[in-house]
Amino acid sequence: MKLGSADAERLAEAVAALRRGDVIGLPTETVYGLAADARNVDAVEKIFRLKGRPADHPLIVHIADAAQLTQWASEVPSAAEKLAQAFWPGPLTLILKKHANVPDIVTGGQGTVGLRCPAHPLALAVLRQLETGLAAPSANRFGRISPTSAQHVRDEFGDSVPVVLDGGECEVGIESTIVDVSGNVPRILRPGHIRKPQLEAVIGPVAEGAQEQSPRVSGSLQSHYAPHTRTELLPRPRLLERAQDCLRNGENVLVLSIAHAVGTIPGLVLADSPESYGHDLYAALRELDARRADRLLVESPPLQPDWIAVLDRLSRAAADTPEEAP
Ligand code: TXA
Ligand code: MG
Repeated sequence: MKLGSADAERLAEAVAALRRGDVIGLPTETVYGLAADARNVDAVEKIFRLKGRPADHPLIVHIADAAQLTQWASEVPSAAEKLAQAFWPGPLTLILKKHANVPDIVTGGQGTVGLRCPAHPLALAVLRQLETGLAAPSANRFGRISPTSAQHVRDEFGDSVPVVLDGGECEVGIESTIVDVSGNVPRILRPGHIRKPQLEAVIGPVAEGAQEQSPRVSGSLQSHYAPHTRTELLPRPRLLERAQDCLRNGENVLVLSIAHAVGTIPGLVLADSPESYGHDLYAALRELDARRADRLLVESPPLQPDWIAVLDRLSRAAADTPEEAP
């Protein structure tokens, strides 16, 4: 998108709000964020209050470019430099040892900090004007579906977040890949659009999955990204039968399927490509959730590497045993 004069006005308003210590809705290429000046403890506290997020869950700091890494990280290993060079601006978050003056509230008291340079012209324009980092989690209440449009943010927070920069629909649609480069072996903590083979092409072997000693990732809680409607993930051949069972039990059932509808069961159909599916997933879940059915049946995607990020989010959306926040 190109920035015009109307954008310049809205940008100025957003930057002024951030300088005042307010929280704004910020578009990124992955999902919308709830952003505040990462150096302003009172402003960051507002994010936690608005989201209802536990205080020990760290936030990602968004920066204008890789040159700012040293303002936030105490060490920048060559793997981090190479990844930033290859994928920034873009949907990749790097976990690094934190710089001594990063506020504890941002890192949840951990010794590491998550850093990302987003690939959205409005987000980048704000970051360049501000000359500080922006702490920004996804702009949804804790545990709920991430927003991929400005309207989603308004629906979620209404008047409590008066400034929402409208940057259109998010291109990627699911949250950034998180790679921990603070230890000896780089490790993917949250799968995303940028996958293991692409990372390995740049820095060599990369491990996958959080370990006991890995930093905390709230997106790794079992139940996350969750609709209110009871949600089940099922392979295609079982969808129709399960839907008919639900109907026999008097339940109002909806189906989210891939490429084709399931008989005459109402619902939504998403495209059979991980990119397109990822782009549309959260909007589809929100729309289906708003219909207040008794049950939502989701077709499980193919068990193929390029579907891992989508599968990860769907599994969490369907996990109906919320884990206690640590
Ligand atoms: O695409 C994204 O990453 C979006 C956009 C807005 O940038 N942001 C996002 O933020 O998804 P959030 O807060 O919803 O998820 C960030 C994840 C959380 O699970 C958090 O625990 C993890 O990043 N995280 C942040 N700092 C961390 C750290 N120092 N160590 C480990 N995990 C960290
Ligand atoms: Mg989130």
